Amino acid sequence: MIDRCGRNIDYLRISVTDRCNLRCIYCMPEEGVQHVSRSLILQEEEILRICRVMAELGIRKIKLTGGEPLVRSGMPQLVEKLKNMTGIEKVTLTTNGVLLKEQMKDFARAGLDGLNISLDTLDEACSRRITRRDELNRTLEGISEALKYPEISLKINCVPLGIPEQDLCRVAFLARDYKVHVRFIEMMPIGMGKEFHGVSEEELLGILGEKLPQFSPYVGEPLGNGPCHYYDVDGFSGKIGFISAVSHKFCGECNRIRLTSQGFLKTCLQYAAGRDLRAMIRSGGSDEELKAVILEALAEKPDGHAFGGSLEKQKEDKTEKLCMAQIGG
Ligand code: GTP
Ligand code: 5AD
Ligand code: SF4
Repeated sequence: MIDRCGRNIDYLRISVTDRCNLRCIYCMPEEGVQHVSRSLILQEEEILRICRVMAELGIRKIKLTGGEPLVRSGMPQLVEKLKNMTGIEKVTLTTNGVLLKEQMKDFARAGLDGLNISLDTLDEACSRRITRRDELNRTLEGISEALKYPEISLKINCVPLGIPEQDLCRVAFLARDYKVHVRFIEMMPIGMGKEFHGVSEEELLGILGEKLPQFSPYVGEPLGNGPCHYYDVDGFSGKIGFISAVSHKFCGECNRIRLTSQGFLKTCLQYAAGRDLRAMIRSGGSDEELKAVILEALAEKPDGHAFGGSLEKQKEDKTEKLCMAQIGG
């Protein structure tokens, strides 16, 4: 699918739930997101139908996200069905890893291509402060389990908050000691993220440069479907990556659309633009009608986000009202 800016859209991010077993301070309010009746959430067959239609239109890669996708049951089965779908080449998952250990074998059997695990710190007290939960050990057990399956590419997502206890170098050293890529995600002013400053890529390079060996830009095969750019670091098994949506805008290369757990097709992370596919499906819309509506939404896909400016200006932003867990990152 080519949008009106000439961008090839072949990547669909699906949020399967907006519930989560953590409460990261920049993502979710303490009390969690508003309860949504189960009947409003897309059922597995509805997700599969939308994916089939999307694959016919040119979607080739699917990312399952949340909230936390593993709090919804049946994820390995969904991965397997998506992997068997004509046209779909890669199925990956982004998780906080808390529930991963028990399900890892099933994901490997299902043919999962890649796993991104959110891990902001290796310090227990700091983890409790950021996630408002005491689950660091279970996340680490999930990562250990995932490392047993070298055929599944493994990446760590870390959102720097500018607090020294987070010890970003310690997180980065995971890429030295294990076959994982460690990516630093710049805080985006979406939902609770508006309350935080984040750390720019330049600042990060300075912080990491103090303890890590020489960095050089990685120029090989793409390492995923997303906006991350990577560096090789001398002596490291994995790469160090940066996703810097604010300081290094990448909207010109955007290749993706999103489906929320309630079936809203969202064409840009920042804007509420899109179409309600659940309503269409549940009112008996045909596949052809569904395709027409998807293409209509794509024709209105925004050129890009308008992050940036002063923090005050970002807080005033009238665009997206949902928090990150409801969008799926
Ligand atoms: P892979 O590289 O294929 O593993 O995918 P990915 O980096 O897209 O996946 P992941 O779910 O780990 O997302 C990492 C971060 O990138 C999250 O914070 C996302 O919100 C962010 N991200 C992904 N797509 C976009 C986008 O279109 N715009 C912006 N601003 N951020 C995005
Ligand atoms: N800015 C940047 N990244 C965020 N994430 C959640 N909220 C934000 C935000 N405001 C990250 C999570 C997870 C990924 C999918 O998105 O930490 O790793
Ligand atoms: Fe849950 Fe991920 Fe949001 Fe943390 S960032 S509260 S793990 S959805």
